[in-house]
Amino acid sequence: TVLVLDFGAQYAQVIARRLRELHAYSEIVPGDAPAEEILARRPSALVLSGGPASVYAEGAPGMDPAVLEAGLPVLGICYGQQLLADALGGEVARTDAAEFGRTSLTVDDPGGRLLGEQPLAQIVWMSHRDTVVSPPPGCRVLASTAASPVAAFEDPERGIFGVQYHPEVSHTPWGLEVLKAFLDVAGVRRTWTSHSVIAAAVGAVREQVGDAQVVCGLSGGVDSAVAAALVHEAVGSQLTCLFVDHGLLRQDEAEQVEQAFGAHSDTRLVSIKAADRFLRQLEGVSEPEEKRRRIGEEFIRTFEEAALEHASGAAFLVQGTLYPDVVESGHGSSATIKTHHNVGGLPERMNFDLVEPLRWLFKDEVRRVGAELGLPEEIVERQPFPGPGLAVRIIGEVTREKLEVLRAADAIFRHELARAGLEGEIWQAFVVLPDVRTVGVQGDERTYGYPVILRAVTSEDAMTADFARIDYDVLERVTGRIVNEVPSVGRVAYDVTSKPPGTIEWE
Ligand code: XMP
Repeated sequence: TVLVLDFGAQYAQVIARRLRELHAYSEIVPGDAPAEEILARRPSALVLSGGPASVYAEGAPGMDPAVLEAGLPVLGICYGQQLLADALGGEVARTDAAEFGRTSLTVDDPGGRLLGEQPLAQIVWMSHRDTVVSPPPGCRVLASTAASPVAAFEDPERGIFGVQYHPEVSHTPWGLEVLKAFLDVAGVRRTWTSHSVIAAAVGAVREQVGDAQVVCGLSGGVDSAVAAALVHEAVGSQLTCLFVDHGLLRQDEAEQVEQAFGAHSDTRLVSIKAADRFLRQLEGVSEPEEKRRRIGEEFIRTFEEAALEHASGAAFLVQGTLYPDVVESGHGSSATIKTHHNVGGLPERMNFDLVEPLRWLFKDEVRRVGAELGLPEEIVERQPFPGPGLAVRIIGEVTREKLEVLRAADAIFRHELARAGLEGEIWQAFVVLPDVRTVGVQGDERTYGYPVILRAVTSEDAMTADFARIDYDVLERVTGRIVNEVPSVGRVAYDVTSKPPGTIEWE
């Protein structure tokens, strides 16, 4: 395991993902964790992440000095590099010239291990104010930029490496090579593949559930599908899949999910029509977290009843929780932006133990595991769809009437995107129905209908996202069809907010 010590960087997860792309298993731990805790996990190398702070700032996140004394290979990135330099006797200074974004880097010493195989002039991605002005004694300086005299340093003998720039982001073209060189020098074994992931997850599930019965809620999204496939691989016919139609699905979704799973799997699948009970729970509720809470609770009650009826009272529930959720809830300091569970928030009391076979995986790894397990592309490449469904896309109270309006508009939008061949490049595309009315004119008559908002984003992992640059002609076609075919909609807007500061969903 390579441990990424997180000093408050948005990028810590990206570092871990890149290392895994290089087949080195990596996990994230808080940067200030005690040395015993870090060493007890027997890491083969450490990466110190970037962070928003200055090493000299009051309350700047630091690390237990005993971690460095253990002699493990260490790569410091950005703030991590400064922390490393500071801890080992180098010097960090606040220069006036901060560097943000694309920056030209010169490799001054091509004889080193970290950058030895790389072009002498290259582009890197920077984001810093402080900079290392002299490396720790015994380290050689490898590269510099206009504002960073020590943009990279190393002492391979002691296993010490630092870079001021961000090798983990795709805007640093040679970045992956930096990480690879570090893993090579550190002698990290690179055996992390979807194959080994499956073997480990299957073993863990068997151990956890023994010969007990298990239920899995399928949402139609990729996470629950892959989780179910893994559990099926592990315990076969002990698994019963439950597909709850909570009345908050997209047009024709129930049929599509039933078909896709029915055709491709010998897992037992029970479909439950539960729209009435979910919609009753949502009556008069407009606060987003309260909606999520009620939907989450209703899911569990539905599962409990179904487990009694169809799965001999199964006591295990499979959830498609992913590693980013685990990291986020594990770090006490990060704020709850929204309650993200596959079902939208779990009640405190429930009759299930959770089985979470994906809790060590990132989304792209989940897709690869799904493909390896033989799930068809239509499932593996499906867009994510939130467990609470259309309820978080109707701002304010959810009613049957609004659900119908939203479903119709949403189907047109997605259909036109598919027709324009844009599905592949879009992470998620959907329509939002706000809780307001708008004046318009149609056929010489005043109208007073709903506006709808189109949302389409590109993303690698839903942590960050950008709005999709959809052609105006496509948007025009979508708008024309929506206002003509969905009578109560009189206006269409396109959301051009990235994440951050927006989130992907509106609630
Ligand atoms: P946000 O809106 O936070 O969404 O940018 C990030 C990703 O998570 C999905 N999402 C959810 N998925 N239960 C889920 O299973 C939820 O409550 C939930 N809320 C958001 C969202 O669709 C996007 O892919």
